[in-house]
Amino acid sequence: MNTESNTRVSRRSLLQAGASLALIRALRSRPVRADVPNGYRIVAAPTRASLAGLGNPQTEVWAYNGTVPGPVVHLRQGEPARIVIENRLEQDTTVHWHGIRLPNAMDGVPGLTQPPIKPGESFTYALTPPDAGSFWYHSHANSLEQLGRGLAGAVVVEERVPVAVDRDILWFLADWRLTSEAHIASGFGNQMEAAMSGRVGNAVTLNGMVSEEEPVRAGERIRLRLVNGSLARIMALRFEGHRPVIVAIDGQPCEPHEPEGGRLLLGPAMRIDVVLDMQGEPGRRYRVIDDFYDGLSYWLTQLAYGEKPPLRRHPLDAPLNLPRNPSPDPDLVTAERHELTLQGGMMGGGTMIGMGGMMGGGMMGMGGGAAWAINGMSMIGDGHAGMEPALTFQRGRSVVLSLRNQTAWWHPMHFHGHSFRVLTRNSAPVPHRQWQDTVLMAPRDTVEVAFVADNPGDWMLHCHVMDHQVSGLMTVLRVA
Ligand code: C2O
Ligand code: CU
Ligand code: CU
Repeated sequence: MNTESNTRVSRRSLLQAGASLALIRALRSRPVRADVPNGYRIVAAPTRASLAGLGNPQTEVWAYNGTVPGPVVHLRQGEPARIVIENRLEQDTTVHWHGIRLPNAMDGVPGLTQPPIKPGESFTYALTPPDAGSFWYHSHANSLEQLGRGLAGAVVVEERVPVAVDRDILWFLADWRLTSEAHIASGFGNQMEAAMSGRVGNAVTLNGMVSEEEPVRAGERIRLRLVNGSLARIMALRFEGHRPVIVAIDGQPCEPHEPEGGRLLLGPAMRIDVVLDMQGEPGRRYRVIDDFYDGLSYWLTQLAYGEKPPLRRHPLDAPLNLPRNPSPDPDLVTAERHELTLQGGMMGGGTMIGMGGMMGGGMMGMGGGAAWAINGMSMIGDGHAGMEPALTFQRGRSVVLSLRNQTAWWHPMHFHGHSFRVLTRNSAPVPHRQWQDTVLMAPRDTVEVAFVADNPGDWMLHCHVMDHQVSGLMTVLRVA
């Protein structure tokens, strides 16, 4: 099945000819380095944003502090931070600090870790990030719609000693389904989509705007933090004429390596930090292409070299390794092992697989709100109370989870409160010491991950395609 009509990115239909590119460029390159105040006050409220670019109609969005994405939250590794969230929406909300290992009460899952923040109320998130790296924050209440209307932003936890690069920049990528008037299309929670690829949109923004080009200088070394804040769109990014080196995945440093086939595979909620040596020619433009979906490739932006002579003749001769984060190494010998099988979704011909009888005779699938299951159980919604944990671990135990995707669809599987080491994919060892909080699974993939269950509380494990999460691809794991 294909959602072709929905997934084509119509940059040109949205970007009228003659729009002021200079202005767009000036607005788009928001600085990402800032003083780190360790205190934030963030208001969630409706507003308008120029997603499609200036000269196009504005889009009504829900935003943090009036911008889409919300402000970059800069924190320092190992230093306490307080973030006050004020809810000026007309519905409950919460904020989840995706990928940050924090106390359970700060995890932002309504009904599971905190009561929802009611309209007009505030909640203070207090956390001390143990890991440096690229993370993000997003609503975890009515998630499909609140994230789909813009409630998300990046978190950068600074290393204690800064890394040697000329520029540290962040591209927050998000996918929107816009009408021809640049309104956010209605129809969140479409059951047909929920059982397939989810709500893939038609306009991809970079730091809140469809991007024609991003200015760079020849010879400079850039640390580029990529965040996929989409509801459902998987990306495979290629940088024409450049060789990005992956230095961290989901905020966690790995052995520096070039991606397979030069494509950076970025599922929803994933982050990849790359180091890019700008070895192109002054004055030239190089496209950044996303060709994940067959026949639907588009270019995200262009690296636009200024006319200035190269900053240096040869690439910077500094190490690419980031300092390790303190996540504990699981003991694979004593680890307990569990399987979690992902089931459901649509097959060709409109049948659901693997769902028969799972609900004890209840109606699964198209009519019942659940399209997916984990080990035969469908938890739907956002994580509201009443979910019994699928597994309980003794605190401090090493755990190996074998995630089996029995479905015909891709799933970025995310676990709260921990980072896991990705051990194997379809029995082959995964190289480069990859620690992640979200692992992208292809149809039929089996992936083994390992972690130390050292953070007490009830933690969600779910697919980060939002339609999948809210229609059953979700469970709770308890660390007691
Ligand atoms: Cu970023 Cu439970 O999610
Ligand atoms: Cu999370
Ligand atoms: Cu999924």
